[in-house]
Amino acid sequence: MTGLYETWVRPLLFQLDPETAHEMALNALQSAADKSLMRSMLGGFCCPDPLPVQIGNLAFPNPVGLAAGMDKHAKALPMWPYMGFGFAEMGGVTLHPQPGNPQPRMFRALTQGGLINRMGFNNPGVHAMIQQLKYWRDADLWPSAPVGLNLGKSKITPLEEAPEEYGQLVETCWSWADFLVLNISSPNTPELRQLQGSNALDGVLRAVQQAATRAAASHPDSMAPSLWVKVDPDLSPQALDELLETCLDHNLFGIVATNTTTRRPRSTTHTEEEAVYRETGGLSGKPLRDRSTEVIQHIYRQCGKKLTIMGVGGIFSAKDAWEKVGAGASLLQIYSALVYKGPSLVKEVVDGLRHQLSLHGLASLNQAVGSQLPYLSV
Ligand SMILES: Cc1cc2nc3c(=O)[nH]c(=O)nc-3n(C[C@H](O)[C@H](O)[C@H](O)COP(=O)(O)O)c2cc1C
Repeated sequence: MTGLYETWVRPLLFQLDPETAHEMALNALQSAADKSLMRSMLGGFCCPDPLPVQIGNLAFPNPVGLAAGMDKHAKALPMWPYMGFGFAEMGGVTLHPQPGNPQPRMFRALTQGGLINRMGFNNPGVHAMIQQLKYWRDADLWPSAPVGLNLGKSKITPLEEAPEEYGQLVETCWSWADFLVLNISSPNTPELRQLQGSNALDGVLRAVQQAATRAAASHPDSMAPSLWVKVDPDLSPQALDELLETCLDHNLFGIVATNTTTRRPRSTTHTEEEAVYRETGGLSGKPLRDRSTEVIQHIYRQCGKKLTIMGVGGIFSAKDAWEKVGAGASLLQIYSALVYKGPSLVKEVVDGLRHQLSLHGLASLNQAVGSQLPYLSV
C-alpha cells in the first residue's frame, strides 16, 4: 500500500499547501470515525499483527505511536489504532485557545523528506479538547490502545507563570489520558525552551507534582497517567544532563526525545530546499533522524531504565526504528514519515521490528532496548 500512496495519493496531496492537505486528511479520518465499516477496512489494510509491549502499568499492542501535533484537537482519535498505531498522543494543547502563527506555517523539504513548521500551538484550548474527548468516550469510540496528551504553555502566559499553568493542565487532563507529556521544547512559542533549564524545570515539575497529588485525590478511581517531559534535540550534553537530573529528582516517568530542531543541514544541492530551510520553525523528518537517535543514546547512557524513553524523529523505516530501540527507546513515535510514506508505514515498521527480534533470537522488544544490536538486512 506504500506504493499506492506514493504513486497516487501523495502527488495529489502534495499539490496542496501542506496545512490544507493535513486538514483534508484529518477531516476524512474524522468523518470515518463513527462508521464501523470504514474503521475495519482501514484496519484491514494498515494494522500489523500485535507486538505487545508493557510499559509501567500500560499495555501497548505495539510500540509505534502517533507523535504530537498530527491531531492537535483529537478530531480523529478513534481512527489512529485502525491506522496501525500502538498508541496516540493528542495535542499540543494549551490552557487558553489560541490561533497559532499566521499561515503559511508548514513547509515541505521534499527531496530530503523533511518538514518545517512554526504552527505555534494552534489549538482550541484544553477545555474544548476535553469536550472532544468526552464526545468520543460517550460515543463508545474511545481507543483500546493508550492515549496521551501533549501539554504546552499558552503564548499569553508569562514564563514565570508557566509552572502554575502546567499544573492546571495536568489537573484538568488527569482522568483523560494514559500519559501526559509536558512539552517544554517546541521552538515556536517564544522562550518556551528556557523551561528546560534546571531551575525553571524544577519549578514546573514541583507545580506538576502538587497538581498530580491533588488530581489523584479527587479521582481515586482513575488510573494515574504517567508523566513525561519532551526535550529538544538542540540541547548541549551538559544542559541535557542537568535536565535529566532534575527529571530524576522528581521521579518523572519518562522522556520523549525529541521535538523538532531549529538547526538546518549544512548544505543542500537543491535551491528549492535551501529556500525552505530559510523558513523559521522546527525541522522534522529525515534530517532530524540521526540527531534524535544521538539524544536517545545519551539519555540511555546517563539514566539506563530509570527514565523510559519514547523515541521520535525521522523514523521512515524499520531500520530507523530499530536503531532508536537499540539506542535506548522503549516506545517510538512517527509524524513526518506518515506524510511522505502514508498509512501503511506503521505496519511496515512493526513487522520489521518483529523480524529483527526473531533474527536476533529475542523474545521481546524490551530485550533489544539499549542493546545497540545491528539491523540485519536478511
Ligand atoms: C506540523 C507539526 C506540528 C507539531 N506539533 C507538535 C506539538 O504540538 N507538540 C509537540 O510536542 N510536538 C509537535 N511536533 C513535533 C513532533 O511531535 C515530533 O517530535 C517531530 O516532528 C519529530 O518527529 P518526525 O520526524 O517523525 O516528524 C510537531 C511536528 C510537526 C511537523
